[in-house]
Amino acid sequence: MSAVLEYIERNHAQYLEELKEFLKIPSISTAPEHKSDVVRCAEWVSQSMKSIGLENIQIFPTAGHPVVYGEFLHAGVDNPNVPTVLFYGHYDVQPVDPLHLWTNPPFEPVVRDGKIFARGAVDDKGQVFMQFKSLEAHLKTNGKLPVNVKVLIEGEEEIGSVNLESFLNTHKELLACDTVLISDTSMFGEDLPSLCYALRGLTYMEVTVTGPNRDLHSGVFGGAVENPANALCTIIAKLKDEYGRITVPGFYDDVKNLTPQERDEYARLPFDETAYRKELNIVATDGEFGYSTLERASARPTLDVNGIWSGFTGEGAKTVLPSEASAKVSMRLVPNQDTNDIAKKFEAYIRHIAPPTVTVEVTNLHGGNPAITPIDSKGVKAAMHALEQAYGKTPFLTREGGSIPIVLLFEKILNASVVLMGFGLNTENAHSPDEHFHLNNFYKGIVASALFYDEIASTK
Ligand code: BES
Ligand code: MN
Ligand code: MN
Repeated sequence: MSAVLEYIERNHAQYLEELKEFLKIPSISTAPEHKSDVVRCAEWVSQSMKSIGLENIQIFPTAGHPVVYGEFLHAGVDNPNVPTVLFYGHYDVQPVDPLHLWTNPPFEPVVRDGKIFARGAVDDKGQVFMQFKSLEAHLKTNGKLPVNVKVLIEGEEEIGSVNLESFLNTHKELLACDTVLISDTSMFGEDLPSLCYALRGLTYMEVTVTGPNRDLHSGVFGGAVENPANALCTIIAKLKDEYGRITVPGFYDDVKNLTPQERDEYARLPFDETAYRKELNIVATDGEFGYSTLERASARPTLDVNGIWSGFTGEGAKTVLPSEASAKVSMRLVPNQDTNDIAKKFEAYIRHIAPPTVTVEVTNLHGGNPAITPIDSKGVKAAMHALEQAYGKTPFLTREGGSIPIVLLFEKILNASVVLMGFGLNTENAHSPDEHFHLNNFYKGIVASALFYDEIASTK
């Protein structure tokens, strides 16, 4: 093993240069104008898989963006009982707006203070690349891997993995595996490794309220005609009560409450509320009555406006009564809520509370179900050991608030257990301007991942 670790140590500089090439490609999955960049990125990923020594590399077109696959399945030749690990990640990234808040352009990666800055640095290109390099280190040093490995990198995670479910169903044989490894979550803190065992789900809705057939003079018509912007605000204000509880009827029906034991574990995590507030420059935290900040941000469901627009938003004042107002509203879900069920309940309630003076349109943009992964699986044990060796510390077991829609489907369709071994930090600005990734965790992540494959080969 030490030869593998030496190989990694020796190649730090080279890794960084290659990662920069990956980060230069603006693979924004939601933007139609970047469609060809997304394709170019899939090609880059397939080339990278080739250069590390994977085989049977294929770019599969889908109804949306391509999926890239590769494998190295020779470990089973000597030992038919050797497990198969499928590594999953995504090469697509989020949009970059507001552009002017970036210190350097988002697709011109730079290193400052031991961090690499670019869109996708931590979510998820940096972490995907880390995994590639851990496989490369084994292959270039020993010409083989400790277990069979399949690699699946998609281009639509940031838009809800809309075409991946049918891809899994059509390619069940190709993707058959025992364990799915994902590096797309966070560590508990700098130099505090953790394994994530639960992610929230998501229901993402858009609401449009329409009033008069055109924008009106707010002096001439104001007071006599319902203002859709006011109506939308009224609707949104009704979605939560004074205890921070969501008022959509039936919303909490399927929520599995935290057990006293789970709450004890939460309370034991070394969380610094003051540092959290300071880092975000907020005067106080906020949320559902009766729950701690960590519980609110990972184990309780939420409802949030992500964007809202209507009427005149330019500089200065224009007296106008807008004819239309819209909002994008997301709900984070926890086990055992179901994204389609929540979408239906949300729509019914919006229609119920909307004033009769306007029409409302409610659309379900995308979503995914929450997931809890077993913590006693071979994969989790192996990852715990690997992290412990790489960081010299026992990792924490955490639940996280973000979503990876495909996780539950890996369990359902492939009947595999999922391991969420992530190396990001929640303060690294994923989805925000100045996204970055600590190089320290990038390099340690390569080591931990290389160790993971050895550990899982020897874990009973
Ligand atoms: N990598 C994140 C998910 C994540 C982040 C999990 C931090 C745990 C900790 C992923 O790329 C992501 O952003 N997912 C979206 C899903 C959505 C677009 C369906 C999310 O959570 O908003
Ligand atoms: Mn991600
Ligand atoms: Mn993301």
